[in-house]
Amino acid sequence: MSKEKYFIIDFDSTFTQVEALDELGEISLQGEENKDEILQQIKDLTNGAMDGKSSFTEGLVKRLDLLKANKKHLQPLISTLQTKVSESVKRNKEFLTTYADSIFIVSSGFKEFITPIVTEYGIKEENIYANTFRYDENGNIIGFDEENVLSLDKGKIKLLETLALQGDVYVLGDGYTDYEIKEAGLANKFYAFTENISRDNVIAKAEHIAPSLDEFLYQNKLPMAISYPKNRIKVLLLENIHPKAVELFRKEGYQVETVAGALSEEELIERIKDISIIGIRSKTQITKKVLEHANKLMCIGAFCIGTNQIDLSTALDAGITVFNAPFSNTRSVVELAIGQIIMLSRDIFDKSSKMHQGKWDKSAAGSNEIRDKKLGIVGYGNIGAQLSVLAEALGMVVYYYDVVEKLQLGNARKCETLQELLEVSDFVTLHVDGRKSNTNMFGEAEFAAMKDGAIFLNLSRGHVVDVPSLVNAIKSGKIRGAAVDVFPEEPATNAEEFVSELRGLSNVILTPHIGGSTSEAQENIAHFVPRRIMEYINAGNTYQSVNFPNIQLPELRDAHRLIHIHKNVPGVLANINNVLAKNHVNIEGQYLKTNEQVGYVITDINKGYNKQVIHDLKQIQHTIKFRMLY
Ligand code: NAI
Repeated sequence: MSKEKYFIIDFDSTFTQVEALDELGEISLQGEENKDEILQQIKDLTNGAMDGKSSFTEGLVKRLDLLKANKKHLQPLISTLQTKVSESVKRNKEFLTTYADSIFIVSSGFKEFITPIVTEYGIKEENIYANTFRYDENGNIIGFDEENVLSLDKGKIKLLETLALQGDVYVLGDGYTDYEIKEAGLANKFYAFTENISRDNVIAKAEHIAPSLDEFLYQNKLPMAISYPKNRIKVLLLENIHPKAVELFRKEGYQVETVAGALSEEELIERIKDISIIGIRSKTQITKKVLEHANKLMCIGAFCIGTNQIDLSTALDAGITVFNAPFSNTRSVVELAIGQIIMLSRDIFDKSSKMHQGKWDKSAAGSNEIRDKKLGIVGYGNIGAQLSVLAEALGMVVYYYDVVEKLQLGNARKCETLQELLEVSDFVTLHVDGRKSNTNMFGEAEFAAMKDGAIFLNLSRGHVVDVPSLVNAIKSGKIRGAAVDVFPEEPATNAEEFVSELRGLSNVILTPHIGGSTSEAQENIAHFVPRRIMEYINAGNTYQSVNFPNIQLPELRDAHRLIHIHKNVPGVLANINNVLAKNHVNIEGQYLKTNEQVGYVITDINKGYNKQVIHDLKQIQHTIKFRMLY
């Protein structure tokens, strides 16, 4: 017969996120002149006791003295604590209720506020061990029941001795006094609970760390509310990714490591072994070789637009999803284009340069408003379409040309050919993508087709314009002004010289590929990419993935979700469904999408199923990855 198991759980900073006496101080000291100072003293005393550095009893006496609390403060305290139950405790109410007979709350706090909180989670009143207050005739808290062993130093040890539990005892807590139970030989295992606070001297002694109750349950093979503890998911963020992303991943409960720069292939091979999610920008190369060592990798986040630094096809074959931020900096590019359109039609760049040389050249010649002028947008994608809206708001008349059919926004007019657009536009702006076939798509013939004295902008990709043709068009006066943000050859670092025939030409605004470089864009990216990744990890959504079949799934409710990624060869779906049928699984919903390389099948099933089905699904031939969500 297997031994009985007992779980000893601490209350303050473990069951709840906070120290209850600190919270009580917030309430009882309201209006007190030096409230903050007193609260700090209380906190220091609490920490001193929790770190095992000072006498617990002495500290408790001092704290109660400082608190000046009254019975009437307890109800508001309970209401506060109800909202501060630890997240992983909240999630795992079912475990607490099911195992209620074996769970003991052992705390040096007070029953008056502990009991109403923990009993809501199924904890039995007779299994709550804590102190009790003493009051004076006016309800003021003046002390505690000194007979209670928990009010004494090493109180938890004394209590456990009296309980004399026959079986395996597991202690979960954040404080030194929790560790001492194990040290005294009264528990088999102590787990330092770090979801709310991590105390160095406790961590140093603990042989087990539980960043959440999920992790504790996972390690002890106990039923948990989620399929996998999030703290086991390791995230590696390279290239100075915006701190917002770090914050979002940490908040989700993942372990996050950051590296300021990019890593070489060898360094990556070493680091990527136990990583589940990697975040990069444009400099890190995720090659086939790197992916061969990425045993645990589930997702790659490109915190930028481009993804050609990633071997997308190998990632797909390995069942690794890739997400990027296709429109997080769209607005930034559009704003710059608008600014440049205005600056160019007023010749501001040259006028400003002359002023810096002391030349005053006041004249209206060649200066125009942009209102009612015709703007020709080549490439009506994210940027082109957004520019269309803002330009119209400024009174411009918008024409666009795209190789595919696009939704016409506002009053924008579609051109059937590029020629048609070039002939009509006062301004031509390129927003095509950088596909190979677009190399030099804009050259001599295109400039020649433009109106005399038109203005030209390129904020898309350097190689799409034949630069010598542009230079000729400017020099001949065919083009009155230009703004160029991207170049066929761009310096790799700020230390390198920028070499181009465009240098020194008048009314030409040159910018160092900064169209999308704003703080706002960086922050948008730092929100966008982690969200996509978490939706994939938590729900299986691949919507907006760069390489995976895109599926947007309904929310998972009262079901378990089987996620199967396989090589796209005939018969796999049939095999999956055979396994489900053979195991009499009740299917609530099934979603399938494939691309040339992989098939992605999601099956939501009724919770009461035979666990054999999991084993059988993993065995299906051509399976790349299988996981289960609940
Ligand atoms: P997108 O992919 O949403 O739009 C590109 C559009 O161009 C698509 O509608 C496509 O059908 C169309 N297109 C492609 N080739 C064409 C051709 N030869 N003629 C007409 N239409 C063509 O891309 P998005 O996000 O709008 O970006 C546009 C460009 O801006 C990209 O090249 C991107 O690399 C660049 N970009 C530059 C930034 C900068 O810092 N300067 C920042 C962000 C993007």
